[in-house]
Parts: sequence; structure tokens; C-alpha cells
Amino acid sequence: MRFFLLLLACLLTRPVFALPTVPPDTRMLLPVPTRANWGQGRFLVKTDFTWQVFTPQQTPATLAADSAVAEAVERLVLPVLLPGKVGSASRRRTSPLPTAALVLQYGRPGNLLTVGEDESYTLRVTPMGVALNAPTHLGLLRGLATLRQLPDTERLRQKRAALLPEVDVADAPRFPWRGLLIDAARHFMPVGVVKRNLDGMWATKLNVLHWHLSDDQGFRVESRTLPRLSQVSGQFYSQRQVRDVIRYAARRGIRVVPEFDVPGHTIAWQAAYPELSSNDSTYTVYQSWRLANVAFDPTKETTYTLLDTLFGEMTRLFPDPYFHIGGDENDGRQWRRSARIMAFARTNGMLKADGKTLDKHALQTYFNRRVLGIVTKYGKTIVGWDEILGPGLPTNAVIQSWRGKKGVLDAVKAGNPALLSSGYYIDLNQSAAFHYATDPLPDATGLTLAQQQLVLGGEATMWAEFADSVIVDSRIWPRTAAVAERLWSAATVRDAPDMYRRLALLSPQLETLGLQHRRAPEQLLRQLAGSAAAMLPLRTLAQVLEPVKEYKRHFQGFTYTTQTPLNRLVDAAPAESDVARTFGQLVDSLLAARTAAPATLRRYLPQLRTQLQLWQNNDALVQPTLQQNPLLKEYAPLSTHLKTAATLALDRLALLEKNQPLTPAAQAAALKQLDALKVPVGQTELAVLPHLRRLVEAK
Ligand code: ACM
Repeated sequence: MRFFLLLLACLLTRPVFALPTVPPDTRMLLPVPTRANWGQGRFLVKTDFTWQVFTPQQTPATLAADSAVAEAVERLVLPVLLPGKVGSASRRRTSPLPTAALVLQYGRPGNLLTVGEDESYTLRVTPMGVALNAPTHLGLLRGLATLRQLPDTERLRQKRAALLPEVDVADAPRFPWRGLLIDAARHFMPVGVVKRNLDGMWATKLNVLHWHLSDDQGFRVESRTLPRLSQVSGQFYSQRQVRDVIRYAARRGIRVVPEFDVPGHTIAWQAAYPELSSNDSTYTVYQSWRLANVAFDPTKETTYTLLDTLFGEMTRLFPDPYFHIGGDENDGRQWRRSARIMAFARTNGMLKADGKTLDKHALQTYFNRRVLGIVTKYGKTIVGWDEILGPGLPTNAVIQSWRGKKGVLDAVKAGNPALLSSGYYIDLNQSAAFHYATDPLPDATGLTLAQQQLVLGGEATMWAEFADSVIVDSRIWPRTAAVAERLWSAATVRDAPDMYRRLALLSPQLETLGLQHRRAPEQLLRQLAGSAAAMLPLRTLAQVLEPVKEYKRHFQGFTYTTQTPLNRLVDAAPAESDVARTFGQLVDSLLAARTAAPATLRRYLPQLRTQLQLWQNNDALVQPTLQQNPLLKEYAPLSTHLKTAATLALDRLALLEKNQPLTPAAQAAALKQLDALKVPVGQTELAVLPHLRRLVEAK
């Protein structure tokens, strides 16, 4: 009987047709699609390759959608399918029958500005041809990004013709809001930089450019109503350029949400219009990265008149229904110090229970409500950083959580839509795996279904204190693709080693799109090295460095201003070192083999030894270069540290090979030496140290 009950329980809890649990075959696709069934066949893209789009009945909207799809085919996909043949006559067919090799079909023009618009598609490659179908043209744009990843790049190089694997893909996003914030205020990012990053976003199916356009260090859009804003800021986008970027983004299925951060982060505004200031100071545009805590005076009507004028103009310039008002990092210190503002707070019941202290949140909520009134009047919905959440905030305001994941939970529990950015701060030089493990909607949040649906997605944030237009791509890519996958693919897709494998395939593809995340740091290194001979050892060093993490770069005794050139080794160092990570995998394999299969140990020893010897010998090769260039000199100790660490690891490796133990005293001494090498130099650290430590630490 007990056996029978057990059997019954098993039958009831298992699917009747239990599917075998084979790992998903992700191949080269990033983000991983909802479903992909791979076949055995191949489609060879021949030079007479043709394509055609089947459009629903012609309206102005279908014409625009049609032309966006055609542009994506011609500019983004054909160069990969037919390398070297671009620019020749368009091979677009207009036949009423689907006779082309690539047939695209969509049901209706997608409404880009509707969050949650259908982006699904199916893509079918057979030996006969390629069919891409989608309910909306946005789905076609997503499917084309998948198609671009399919060609066998090895074959491509050899044969100059693409081979596509037979596959049947059905795909749709997990979250409707998948963004990248680009900060153009700290370092101005010219239109070309924004456009090539929009191409990268298209390739990874991101669909929102969050354009951070104003901050203490600059107001970056031409204003015709308040022209001094951009005049005092130096570099800025003309309105024509803004419209050009918006159009470019739209043609890749990407919305553009502008951010005008208020009431803090506004020194540039106050430099232009001193009447905004809380303390009646006159400011010049801020040259420092230190948090200023300078905020508008929220008590003056003139503040709202000015905001009404500007936001009236900007809401007309930016068609997106969402308008980001920032709201972050105002600690209220200027408000507390102003007699005028304190009197206002007293009159309006914005003091704490003690009757004396300012209730900063109450005053900022008052400000937010006034701003909300303006933005709403112009037909927009506000987005703000999580500081704006609080009693009295209308539930249609979108909360973007940057201070922690809890911000998302708090927002949706209050009934507000939410976006996650905490954990996606790509400017902080954390690993792709770290970002990948961050989920806007993790398991077991205890949220109701309705609350879960309020989690719209997330955004990677490229704050630009330490990224200028030259190196910014290398701070965004390829790690942002890991965030893109987290936001597009199923929550169950979370195999970090597989993500890294596919990231390595995607990264060069992003460069062929025009991104410079590999070229630009290489060029900077070449500039620092000064000669071809010096380049190799300098690269060996740079490849195992990473800039210090989180906000540490602000606090390492080197004072940056907006004018400091970003042209040192720290700027050429990768945000995440591939060389260090790959070396770490090798160490793990060695240590695993040592316990599980000692006979296989020798498989890993030669590779590890070669790498360690390379680092050991590199010091002598690179020191003359480091000593000669004043920009490099500070890094001389770091190269010596690498040599010391490699030597310690080689000693350990020699004992491992002979299967001899390290004495506890020798091990303790080696670990102490290694730990002493952790000290950052020139705002970088040796990314290989933790891996070397694991080797030395092994019992
Ligand atoms: C922020 O990083 N202050 C939104």
C-alpha cells in the first residue's frame, strides 16, 4: 500500500511524458531564444542571394516599418551574410510570391512607443532558405539580430560565403523594458558614439536608450527656450542631432528616454540660471566628480516656471511617453541651511516631529509633485530613481532602483512599475557573471502576479566619470550583452560559463558592427607603448589588470576633474580580464583533477607553467617601457608584483607536479606575500591574484 501511494504520488507530480533533461543547445545565440531546434542541414548564402519583405496593406505606418526592416537587412545583416559584396545593387525582390532566399513577413507595424508591444518572431533556416515571421515589424528587427549571429564565422573567413545552420527558432522577450543608460553629461558622447552603441543594443535586443543628458558637469541638449543651459556647458547635441538619434534608434526598434535629473545634480543649470539656486550662490559648471549635493530651490515659483518652459520644449523634442526626472542623491543640506526654505517648510508642515528639523523627503515629494504636474500636463509619464518613491507619489510613476534590489520590491508593492539597475552598474567594473546573476524578478520574492507584472525590466548604466568617447565602448561591451540576455531570455537561462563562451563569439561581431571596445583600448596601449616592440610586453601586463571596482577610483589619491585625460594604463585595462578569467578556469581544472583524477593532472601543468613563466619574464621586458613614459611609470611596481606572484605560483606548481606538499609555514609565508600584492597601483589591480592564491592555497 505504501509503495502504491508512493507510485501514485510520483505519477501525480511528474509530467506524464517526462522530457529528457538535455542541456539547451545555445550554440552561438546571445540572448538565448525561447526555443531553438537545430537540424542537420545547412543553408549556403550564395552571391545571388535575394530577399523580400511581405508587408501588410500600405499605409504611412507600414511604409516606415518596411523601410526600417529593409535598412536593418541591408546595413546590419547582409554585410555578414555576403561579406565583401555590400554596396552592390540591392537584391530586394518585389515578386508577389515568396521566391527569395530570405523571406520576411510581418502582420502590422509595431508601436515602438508602447511598452510591452509584441516583439516575438519565428526564424526558420532550412537548406532551401530563410523565413522570418513576426506579428509586428519589431519582431522582425529582433529576429534579424538572431539571424546575424548564425553564420559560421570560421567558414566565413575561409570561403567568403556564409553557411547558416538549419534551425527553427521561436522567441519572445521576458521583460518589455531592456535598457542601456548612456551618461553624456560627465563626458560628452558624440552622435557617432551613441549611434554605434545603438547598433550594439540592436544586436543584443536591448530596446531602451536612457539618455542621461544633464548633470552637474553639463547640460547636453540645445534649448531654444533657455539657450544658456547648453551655452555654459560647452559640448551639447543640437536639436537636429537629437532627432537624428531618435530616428536612428527607432529604426532599430529602440526607444529613447531622456533624463533631466532634478532637483540635485543641477550645477550646470544653476550656472546658466542662478535664480534656481537654493543658497543664492553663483556657480560655474562643475569640474569635479565629487557628489555636490547642490539642489534647486523648491520653494520658488520661478523654479517651476523655468522647468515648465524647458520641459514643454523637451517633451516636444522627445516623442517617448516616458520622461525621466532623476531625483537621486539630494541629501537636502542646502535646503536645511536656507532660512527661506526652512520658513517654507515650517509653513507647509514639512518638518519632522521635533518641529525643527527639515523633513527632506516631504519637501522633495512636494517638488516631485509639482514636476509631475508639469510633465503630466505635457502628456508624459515620469520615471525617477528610487529616492522619489514615497507616500503621495502617483502609482503610474516608474521607479528605477539603483540603491538596491529592494527598491524594485518596494515600488511594485506600492503599485508602481519598476526597473532594476542595482547590479547592472557596468561603470563599476564588475564581472559579466556578477551582472548575469542579478535578476529583476528572482525566485521567491513573495510578490503577487500583479506585482510581478509591474517589474518592467532593467537597465545597464554607463555612468561616464571614467569613460570618454574613446574608451566608452570598452566599458559597455561585451559585458552589457550579459545584462541583455538576463532581460530577454528565460530566468532559467543562467549558466555563466556558457554565457562567457557565447560572449566571446559575440564580441568580435559587435566590432564588425562598428563598436570599438577591442580596437580602442588596443590603440591606447599602442600610443602608450610608443613602438611595436614595446607593445607586446605592455599588452601582456595590461591584459591581466582591471580598474579598481565600485567607486574606489574616486578614492585612491589621484584627483580627477572633467579635464583629466583618460589615457593611462587603467583606461586601457579591460573592465573584466579575459586572460585572468581563462587562467582561473585552468587553475580550477587543475585543482579538480588533482582530487578527482590525479592521472589527468599533467594535462593542465604545461599550459599553466607557460602562462606563469610568461608573466615572470614579462617584467624585465616591460620595465624599460614603463620607466620611459611618464604616463606609465606609476605602473612599474605592478609589473614586479605580477612577477613575484607568478614566481610563487610556479614554486607551488613544481611541488604539485612532484606530488609534494607545501609546508604550512611556507604556505603561510607565500599567502602573506600574495596578499601584500593586492594593493592597487594607478587605480588598477592584478586580476590574476585571486586565481594564483587558489593555487598556492591548495592543500
Ligand atoms: C545614481 O547612480 N545616482 C542614480
